[in-house]
Amino acid sequence: MDKNLISEQIGAISSTDRDSTGLHPQNLFLFGPPGVGKTTVGKLLAERLGRPFIDIDESIERQQGQSVNILINTCGEAAFRRIESEFCAYLAGQSNLVVASGGGALLNPEIRSETLASSCVILLTAEEHELVDRLGSDTPRPLLGGNLAQELRQLLNHRKENYASFPFQVPTSEKSPSQVVDTILEALADNNLSKSFTVRNPKPGYEILLGPGLLTNIDTLISRLELQPPYIMISDSNVGPVHAQGLQSRLNADLIQFEAGEQKKNLGTYQELVQRLTELGMERSGTLIAIGGGVVGDLAGFTAATYMRGIRWMNLPTSIVAMVDASIGGKVGVDLGAGKNLVGAFHQPDIVVADTDTLRTLPEGEFKAGLAEIIKAAVIADATLFKWFERNQHSPTLRWLERAIALKVDIVQEDPYESGIRAKLNLGHTIGHGLEAASNYTLRHGEAVGLGMLIEAELAEDLRLTEEGLASRIEKVLQRWDLPTRFRDIPIGAIRKSMMNDKKKRRGGLRFALPLRVGSVQLHENIPDSAVMEAIERRMEI
Ligand SMILES: NC(=O)c1ccc[n+]([C@@H]2O[C@H](COP(=O)([O-])OP(=O)(O)OC[C@H]3O[C@@H](n4cnc5c(N)ncnc54)[C@H](O)[C@@H]3O)[C@@H](O)[C@H]2O)c1
Repeated sequence: MDKNLISEQIGAISSTDRDSTGLHPQNLFLFGPPGVGKTTVGKLLAERLGRPFIDIDESIERQQGQSVNILINTCGEAAFRRIESEFCAYLAGQSNLVVASGGGALLNPEIRSETLASSCVILLTAEEHELVDRLGSDTPRPLLGGNLAQELRQLLNHRKENYASFPFQVPTSEKSPSQVVDTILEALADNNLSKSFTVRNPKPGYEILLGPGLLTNIDTLISRLELQPPYIMISDSNVGPVHAQGLQSRLNADLIQFEAGEQKKNLGTYQELVQRLTELGMERSGTLIAIGGGVVGDLAGFTAATYMRGIRWMNLPTSIVAMVDASIGGKVGVDLGAGKNLVGAFHQPDIVVADTDTLRTLPEGEFKAGLAEIIKAAVIADATLFKWFERNQHSPTLRWLERAIALKVDIVQEDPYESGIRAKLNLGHTIGHGLEAASNYTLRHGEAVGLGMLIEAELAEDLRLTEEGLASRIEKVLQRWDLPTRFRDIPIGAIRKSMMNDKKKRRGGLRFALPLRVGSVQLHENIPDSAVMEAIERRMEI
């Protein structure tokens, strides 16, 4: 595949293509049967959105120097599909495009899954007779040579299940292309951008909302959930001034802010928080509102868990780590000098509202550290997403956050109190927490988890518990995304000590979630100490 030819069409994708949240707008991928109008609608949609437009068939024709029809007739459908799949895989690594594909492009399950990971797939539909009318007056289409109506029916039957599997469907019958574009834009504005997930276990469960602009509806959410005053917000010195103060007057809420940073996630700050709650007259029936990164969520959640033996709370995460990980599953707590999260509780929020507009102000370093948590989710259970990270360099789209959230929701629902499979989420954490604490929190949580995951993969390879080459794949992905793969100035003895104080210890020994391969991890105890320390030392920069 000639990538120059494609990038010529797309134009260079740069960080300036990010939207206001710092996320890249995902591709809009038009799909559907022949004659449904993917190219016409696609061009119009691209024009209206000011995005580059790619017609996959047309690009392949330019690249191969012959029509798709001739290509299929001379080389066969299978050969054409291979070229098409390569094309789709490449486009899955881009963002901000409007793409019109051939009607069979997403029949291949792997390409379907990769495209869904990176793009919003919009299936255009039409009545069969209308497709026949449109195609009848058109130039010959691939795979529809003889009796048009009969062959189209067969083709639609064959692809019925595949087409039905795409949730975002837009009917085009009796609509002009411009009306179809209007419908797509309305649907995108209405529901596609925001996603909701439900954590059903433990009961009564709660919803997680993700998308732009959600905080503007916070009062509606509060009344829908019948959350009672007094409302007291908790935030830190970075997030409070930019995101909490505006909400404060709308909700008629008090705001407590503490100094930002992991060093403040401790019993001292906790004590100050409960003290302020009593001074502000917080009641048992009141509502605590946490707005900030994982530190705010953990601390405010722990305060909500324990103040008057537990009050209701909402979590409004504002960092990637908090959106895809810390806000989900109800684990709350504080660090002790001896180690991370050594005091804590399970206390589920009433709702999690992840407004991606808040990411606009997230510093670049924190953004990248957050990506490490998404890469971790991919290594645990999403090989397609991991491949995506291996191939691409662009910033994430909303879809990535969704996939990481969906993975965590699945696992915490099955094991809400971490008595079994939830421990798989600790991939990278046994060593990562040791590094994070021993660095005196100069390593960010996400950075430490990424590095911990790499060292744990190397450890698993040393012990022949994982497929060879996995650690090197993880290392390359971390490097590609500008995340640390080595550490310096952290004494080995301090790392060991922090690890030995970790909660994940069992009967005196450490417990690891080690990767078996990309997409699968397994829990292990009884890993020899010497092997662990050797693996850590290898990543120390001298
Ligand atoms: N409870 C859980 O299940 C769980 C899971 C993962 C991580 N965690 C915890 O989460 C913490 C890490 O979370 P984190 O990376 O969000 O750390 P953090 O809360 O310290 O946030 C990182 C930095 O970004 C700032 N920030 C956050 N959102 C911002 C925004 N929108 N604009 C400007 N600045 C912003 C914060 O003030 C802070 O300086 C750790 O304490 C970790 O142990 C908990």
